[in-house]
Amino acid sequence: MSEERVNFGSKIGVILATAGSAVGLGNIWRFPYMTGENGGAAFIIIYILCVIVLGIPCMIGEFIIGRHGASNTARAYTRLAKGTRWKWIGYLEVLTGFLITGYYAVVSGWCLNYIYAALMGELKGDPAFITAYFEAFSNDPIRPVVWTIIIFGITHFVIVHGVRNGIEKASKLMMPTLFVLLLVIVVAACLLPGASKGMDFLLKPDFSKLTGDVFLGALGQCFYSLSIAMGCLCTYASYFSRQTNISKAAVQIGLIDLLVAVLAGLMIFPAAFSVGISPDSGPSLIFITLPNVFNQAFSGFPVIGWLVALMFYALLSLAALTSLISLHEVNTAFFYEELHISRKTGAWIVTVACCLIGAVCSVSIGQKAHMSLFGMDLFDLFDFVTGQLMLPVCGMLMCLFMGWYVPKQIIKDELTNWGTLRFSCYHLFIFAMRFVCPLCILAIVLHQFHLI
Ligand code: PHE
Repeated sequence: MSEERVNFGSKIGVILATAGSAVGLGNIWRFPYMTGENGGAAFIIIYILCVIVLGIPCMIGEFIIGRHGASNTARAYTRLAKGTRWKWIGYLEVLTGFLITGYYAVVSGWCLNYIYAALMGELKGDPAFITAYFEAFSNDPIRPVVWTIIIFGITHFVIVHGVRNGIEKASKLMMPTLFVLLLVIVVAACLLPGASKGMDFLLKPDFSKLTGDVFLGALGQCFYSLSIAMGCLCTYASYFSRQTNISKAAVQIGLIDLLVAVLAGLMIFPAAFSVGISPDSGPSLIFITLPNVFNQAFSGFPVIGWLVALMFYALLSLAALTSLISLHEVNTAFFYEELHISRKTGAWIVTVACCLIGAVCSVSIGQKAHMSLFGMDLFDLFDFVTGQLMLPVCGMLMCLFMGWYVPKQIIKDELTNWGTLRFSCYHLFIFAMRFVCPLCILAIVLHQFHLI
């Protein structure tokens, strides 16, 4: 079965495409901020532990299900679940991916708009101006929607070209570009006068800040950042060849994701500290604080400031785009395989449906008072339901399914490539799936609802 299916054409294609899914907005704005707030290097150490103990085993679990199933996520689970209710995890993951796609695209669309704004020099002005620009833009009923549609247009273009000519080619182009941009900005930021204070803030371990909250924050961040439990890893793994070493790929992707996150911190904090602006969290960090930082840090050399801002938003857009492509693919694969339609038609269904969800989310931000449910605008509601409810539930069920239900021989075969690899982490993996991961995830969920 797996031979008939289209595969990624090269090892590097596998790594870059899957790392593209993992590396996203979560790495570039969420990780640096969380690190700074939660004890700097001490948080990074905890985060690395989470990646090793929770992230990598969960990635391996999804890879096994995906490659074994050689089909979309829902069918991959169904194949292994053999008529039991476990198959619903697959459907739930596809649904989570679907819901996230819409609102992830809204923020991705904002990034695209900021490339345009940076290019046109619209981001020049004092802090009040930059804040007003962001508020006016994000509350505008039309412009963010147009950018959301544009980013879906690009995603759609990549997806309809298929796995090798679309996803793999795009990742091979976008990921190296992303690294180069990131490195150039890190160097520019670290050369600024006073940058070392930012590096201290990020890298000096402050163990006094390590509380239970910090551990759980690191766990949640690791989950989100590695795109676990949303069908992305499973769908991409269905395009892995029989030669792909699943455990090695998971370790490599985990490392790339971590590296990008730490480098993003080394880009943001030195720049912010050099002009004495304290970094903020959430959307305001990338859309309000940073334009100010770029303006002030490079005030002596406006052209460099302009270039750095432009590169930064290009970097963000690329990171968001490669994640969006993977989310789109989860749904496209589901629709075209389940409805027996062409890939193109499947992609169209997803694009149109997600544009609609994206548009509704985007408009709901501007019309907070009129469009809210449970006291949140639809954007926050989607974020809460997918990120904090569906994601951990899917993740935990996936681990239990792997640890307690899936036949051990299948796991062994997948981990050793049918006996051809000598080294395998089989026992550790099973232990993680049975006990460690479900318990950690349970702790995150209970914590989110203030139960522990
Ligand atoms: N991992 C992505 C990030 O760090 C987010 C994402 C989650 C993308 C799930 C795809 C699927 O931003």
